[in-house]
Amino acid sequence: MTDLRYPNAVVHFGVFFQGVNHSTIWSDPRSGSQMNHSTFTQLIRTAERGLLDAFFLGEGLRLREQRGRIHDLDVVGRPDALTELATLAGLTDRIGLVATQNTTYNDPADLARRLASLDVLSGGRAAWNVVTTDNAWTGANFRRGGYLDHADRYERAERFVNLARRVWDSWDGSEFAPVDSDDGFFDVEIAPTVPRSPQGHPVIFQAGDSPTGRDFAARSADVIFSAHGSDRHDALAFADDVRRRVVAAGRPEDDVLTFPGTQIVVADTEGEVEEKARWVLEQQVTPAPAHDPVIADIDGTRGAARQGHDPRAIAQEWRRVAEENKFSLRELVLHTSARRGFAGTASQLADELTLWVRSGASSGFNVTPFLVPSGLDDIVDQLVPALQERDAYPTAYVGTTLREHLGLRPPLTRRR
Ligand SMILES: Cc1cc2nc3c(=O)[nH]c(=O)nc-3n(C[C@H](O)[C@H](O)[C@H](O)COP(=O)(O)O)c2cc1C
Repeated sequence: MTDLRYPNAVVHFGVFFQGVNHSTIWSDPRSGSQMNHSTFTQLIRTAERGLLDAFFLGEGLRLREQRGRIHDLDVVGRPDALTELATLAGLTDRIGLVATQNTTYNDPADLARRLASLDVLSGGRAAWNVVTTDNAWTGANFRRGGYLDHADRYERAERFVNLARRVWDSWDGSEFAPVDSDDGFFDVEIAPTVPRSPQGHPVIFQAGDSPTGRDFAARSADVIFSAHGSDRHDALAFADDVRRRVVAAGRPEDDVLTFPGTQIVVADTEGEVEEKARWVLEQQVTPAPAHDPVIADIDGTRGAARQGHDPRAIAQEWRRVAEENKFSLRELVLHTSARRGFAGTASQLADELTLWVRSGASSGFNVTPFLVPSGLDDIVDQLVPALQERDAYPTAYVGTTLREHLGLRPPLTRRR
């Protein structure tokens, strides 16, 4: 029997609109544009109908191109997240609005103001997904004398978030006090420009998986957006590690929620589930090419196969798997991509996701629809009712702010 650490926990959902990348199927006639406002509107309205906690946008600040040719738009190639979310704030009432914004190239006074603006405009529904941005080429946009190393990026991030929190705290009723800093990273005196929102501070998400990133989140964040969203044991190990770090930072162990990004395929019968999951995977890997080379035809290793791992070791392992199974390149990609997220009937998925949150493997899920904008419909129409039948999902929004939906304590600097 699995130990149910949180026997009454409910599933929280965010929707993560990725942009144009390998997890979203753009070749399907049902796909909308990644830029048109109607795509964002349809997706967020479905999410709010399904009582999702948050609408989440990633962001990058430079086009991914090589020698003048765009190779992947990903989270670039669409309007700025804070501007987009401000338009969506006016069309929705309850759902949280999460903007990914990096601390390496932004400026604290400016970003604190823009985030506070979204928080006030939306009646306390804003969140900031703090990222440090690990691609060096983004730095060229900003002429900041290059790119900080990993440790300095996190040190800057922590000082940045602390400074932003002080700015959000510095205007209280008719009183205000400018915020000073001269710490080697920021030499500023910032006066607040936006009054406090109903939730005090925007909710702080963090995305970054290294030990340094996890410690930073344990000290500074409310929620971690992670990539541990496919295997429950892996997610539990991650969540346990985060809980240890949170306690070491002097906070209650449940003070930081974990929200893995994931994909959910729902269908009516087990046969249909298998068929749909296979279809999704094949579409994500792109249509079969006329010539699909076998691994023995290819040599050498180019590029960085996976963030944070040795590309040569990965190539060697994949080569071994391909040779053993006599896979073509495409079959190998299908095989190595096969463990993304969840697939099942609504009832199977409801049981599985409930087990995840009640065993402490995660607090919820940041769901990436594989079809945009209609890919959330099955989840809202089939999975949400199945979770509600199990008392594992709310039947109404619990409050008006994102902090209330997520059951978070007051902002870190505003606790007695
Ligand atoms: C789940 C996840 C989502 C991320 N999303 C973004 C993003 O939208 N924009 C961005 O610039 N960086 C993003 N990052 C990159 C992080 O900000 C960070 O630079 C990178 O993970 C390296 O830090 P780490 O070694 O602590 O993982 C993301 C990272 C993770 C793990």
